[in-house]
Amino acid sequence: MNICVVGSGYVGLVTGACLADFGVHVTGVDKDASKVEALNRGEIPIYEPGLATLVRKNMEADRLSFTTDLGPALEAADAIFIAVGTPSLPDGSADLSFVRQVAESIGDHLNGYKVVITKSTVPIGTGQMVEETIRQRAGGEQEFAVVSNPEFLREGSAIEDFMRPDRVVIGSRDERAVEMMLDIYSPLRIADVPFVVTNVESAELIKYASNGFLATKISFINEVATLCEKLGADVEVVARGMGLDNRIGPKFLNSGPGFGGSCFPKDTRAVAQIAHDCDERFRIIDAVLEANEAVKERMVTKVEAALGGSADGKTLAVLGLSFKPDTDDIRESPAIEIAQGLAARGARLRCFDPEAMEEAKEELPENGDRVSYHGDAYAAADGADAVLILTEWNQFRKLELENLAKRLTQPLIIDLRNIYDPSRVAAAGFRYVSVGRGEAAPGKDEPVRSRVLVGDGPL
Ligand code: UDX
Repeated sequence: MNICVVGSGYVGLVTGACLADFGVHVTGVDKDASKVEALNRGEIPIYEPGLATLVRKNMEADRLSFTTDLGPALEAADAIFIAVGTPSLPDGSADLSFVRQVAESIGDHLNGYKVVITKSTVPIGTGQMVEETIRQRAGGEQEFAVVSNPEFLREGSAIEDFMRPDRVVIGSRDERAVEMMLDIYSPLRIADVPFVVTNVESAELIKYASNGFLATKISFINEVATLCEKLGADVEVVARGMGLDNRIGPKFLNSGPGFGGSCFPKDTRAVAQIAHDCDERFRIIDAVLEANEAVKERMVTKVEAALGGSADGKTLAVLGLSFKPDTDDIRESPAIEIAQGLAARGARLRCFDPEAMEEAKEELPENGDRVSYHGDAYAAADGADAVLILTEWNQFRKLELENLAKRLTQPLIIDLRNIYDPSRVAAAGFRYVSVGRGEAAPGKDEPVRSRVLVGDGPL
């Protein structure tokens, strides 16, 4: 079987490498010649754990190659995955011009039965558009089928998510295409992964509804965190208590500075737009978007309050700039927005991120002592008035607190990802400000330590 994956961005690369690892031949196509050259040298343009090894392994086995030449790759393929970008337009809807261009090329090069799979997150009805575009260009001579097979890959664990997914969704109205998809994914079927086979529209909506629901969980717990701060409750314990209810589940209930990245903000805006296009309103999604904007502003105010009311003239060691750990991606990163907000209020920022500093410099340019970048967390803390944790990289969970204290002008940690146990930080002599939990400081103990008990012993 020959597979062509159009678009060698994040989704395309992961999809191509993983499919090649299933044992099929994959040609990755991208119009960016320098990217294709680099890929053919085995250089991976993005940071994703395990991806470089998987790409090189399958290139060496002659199952994976890259080209800029779309036509021959399309003609040789039995199945074509479309994994090109669908950026947001100013009104929040997805820009489909790249998808349309690929559909036109497929129509121009259709030389036999092919299955065309949309992998990019696309508005409901895109499958229909792709089908019509191909049919118009191909002139009705050749058979083909369109399939929606949305991706549910998380950055930082994309390979794992592809190889061990909770489910695979296949939408089509052509049984032959469904059979081909089940064959492509046979290694996952053997591993008992559930497959949802349905029509294209339902498949497209499963993706949006899933991401909208997950974004709702995050905004929900972020609003609960605000209440916790007002009421003297602890959001970590509240989330734990909620999550132990099987109907709710413990995942995606980590409060913090809001969701970011290339998917959740874009997809939630797109869901709102989809509803609007149907003359409806998705009221909960509207509220989720509003809450996600509000939480970032609330975080800036919170940092200012922790610094005594104003950030003006204060120096912060900013730890973490990517939208989440294990990625260099800063797209719609709350960390960047909050850092920008603090810089605008006169704070001096001494930044460090393990992977995303080069990317961050584009949005938060170096500017003398107003915005500077440093080699590690300790160097960033030199002479700062507080440490501000914005992204929960593992290395920030184990900072040597004594070493930090020596470098700071005062022992203050503002942790917007709740990665520390407040009592431990307080015991090390720090004032500790986090999200949805009371402020901790030396000598300020809770009378009852929160814990979850099962049977006789603590968990
Ligand atoms: C997401 C979806 O999880 C994935 O299924 C989809 O295909 C693409 O979008 P990703 O954007 O890589 O993946 O990141 P994810 O781990 O889901 O986190 C998204 C954002 O939500 C991050 O900013 C993260 O910090 C935030 N988040 C996540 C929270 O604030 N709290 C949580 O409990 C979980």
